[in-house]
Amino acid sequence: MADWSDFIQQIKRNNDIVDVIGSYLELRRTGANFMARCPFHGEKTPSFNVNRNLQIYKCFGCGESGDVIKFVEKYESCSFVEACEILAKRAGIPMPETSTTRDEKEYKERKAKKDAYFAICKDAAKFYWSIYRSEKGAVARSYMQGRGFDDVTVNKFGIGYSPDNFSLPSYLRSLGYNMQDCVKCGVLQIGQRGFTDALSGRLIVPIFNMQGQVIAFGGRGLDEYTIARGKYKNTAETPIFVKKDSLFAINIAKEQKQQTALPYLVVVEGYMDVIAMYQAGFKGAVASMGTSLTEQQAKWLSRLSDTVYICYDGDSAGQKATVRGLDILDRAGLEVRVMTVPEKLDPDEYIKKYGAEAFVGLIDDALPLPDYKLRLLERAFPINSSDPAQRNNALPKYVKGAITMLKSLDDVRQARYITAVSLTTGYSEDYFRRKLNEDGAETQEIIADNMSSEDKAKYFVAACVLHGEDYASVEDKPLCNTAFLSDLYDYLLDCKSKGTKPSVDMLYTVCPNAIEQQYAEIIDVDFSKAKYDVNKRYFEECKRLITVEKLKLRREELMKKIKNDPGNGKLLDELTALSKKITDIRYD
Ligand code: UTP
Ligand code: MN
Repeated sequence: MADWSDFIQQIKRNNDIVDVIGSYLELRRTGANFMARCPFHGEKTPSFNVNRNLQIYKCFGCGESGDVIKFVEKYESCSFVEACEILAKRAGIPMPETSTTRDEKEYKERKAKKDAYFAICKDAAKFYWSIYRSEKGAVARSYMQGRGFDDVTVNKFGIGYSPDNFSLPSYLRSLGYNMQDCVKCGVLQIGQRGFTDALSGRLIVPIFNMQGQVIAFGGRGLDEYTIARGKYKNTAETPIFVKKDSLFAINIAKEQKQQTALPYLVVVEGYMDVIAMYQAGFKGAVASMGTSLTEQQAKWLSRLSDTVYICYDGDSAGQKATVRGLDILDRAGLEVRVMTVPEKLDPDEYIKKYGAEAFVGLIDDALPLPDYKLRLLERAFPINSSDPAQRNNALPKYVKGAITMLKSLDDVRQARYITAVSLTTGYSEDYFRRKLNEDGAETQEIIADNMSSEDKAKYFVAACVLHGEDYASVEDKPLCNTAFLSDLYDYLLDCKSKGTKPSVDMLYTVCPNAIEQQYAEIIDVDFSKAKYDVNKRYFEECKRLITVEKLKLRREELMKKIKNDPGNGKLLDELTALSKKITDIRYD
């Protein structure tokens, strides 16, 4: 642990935030700070501020803020550790050993294997690519042209073609690859005829991971004979390709996000749907590679945007597994909306028939997940049927389903949908509320908007210490009712005991999961010279409030003890002393 926090300090010291962000964005100097167009939300005039002094950034448009590590994390859509890796490499600092890396050879061997698989997939993709563009690729090219795909699109997705069974194996052998490795990464198969191309004779759609590495392929049959063995055949599961956790075109969506923030993503079913949407201008489309979406996929998606549109074929969209997948996205904090494409068309077919603008209409008409679930319920239980018997039969079942739906919602949405459901069913809102309580509805924590003055004081005191104000210090930990404050004060006291200077940017390392509002309480305080006296006075006042709060708690505890032991003179003396102390601090 200790060496890890040293490591983070070292990365930060050697990666000036202005240099790092400047290598990704065009920064303009304004006084002491630097400005850019925010990469995390779409904007025309720059409101993204980089502060060299504090080594933090903050967008005044969307509120996003952080230190150099968080920037890389968000911009590269990677994990904290991966961001550290990128910055360590940039500064030429070795990664510290962790329990996984230390655990010897095995980890290194696994990594080496994976690297070999990545290399094979990459070379296979290059091979398919060049065949597609050669004489042998004429069938594939005319197929894609026939479907209306232009060269820019085809190149963007790295479309290729497998000519036959044996060309790829001999090519990979000529490059010196271990043939068993080629089988293990799914590119080749081994059988009576020796090594063969796993996707022979198919149009090749490479599948990339978030980092832009080829991890697998989808192969579309182009003739009856091949299609009879499956319209698409995909690379088998391998150590680098876990189908259910992958998303086709996630690399392209990421690239798009780096150019202009992505307001939303669209999840579709087919490779060709993604490709057609890209060509039509929808560059945030990805395809799920199985039926039900997984938590890992939700994680990838939420790194790129906070809103996801689901555009599945009519028959699969209503299936239980699909709805379960949508719940996973919802639980991951994504705003989920469900689109409906008419006439049982897939997005590719719909865009060809009606054009991109009509598709925008479908996006606009998408239903929020709860409304979509109610729509499914109504389809199953026709409470608006003109047949009264059918209606009466359906109503209790609909209500039961609605309660299940309501249970999955957070308080705010629950309140809203209770009203809606009450209106459609005629059952009272109270009825639904009772039902939800009965079954022990999960209540979700909501961050209090109206902070107590004591809590405000704790933020302010911490801000003064972090900004290095000469009058500011902390001696002990206040009462902390949030993880944010608790972690922050632990850090401040830790610095004090080590004799090191705390710094504002460490906020994002010490409290990585805070909400912007919490960060803002610390970083938005004005510590300019003009404010010095005011801040100093306010600081003293805050310290007083915090101390009194703690003493009051002790007094309460003492009073409880006295209640149980009324004759205890020692306790009473203590109480008097404590009360005096509180009044003294308040009025000195
Ligand atoms: P679709 O048949 O809807 O895909 O299957 P598509 O992209 O629209 O195909 P075409 O080329 O326009 O006809 C949806 C997805 O299901 C997987 C593929 O990932 C496909 O993109 N699939 C489908 C298979 O893996 N194997 C199959 O045989 C069919
Ligand atoms: Mn299709």
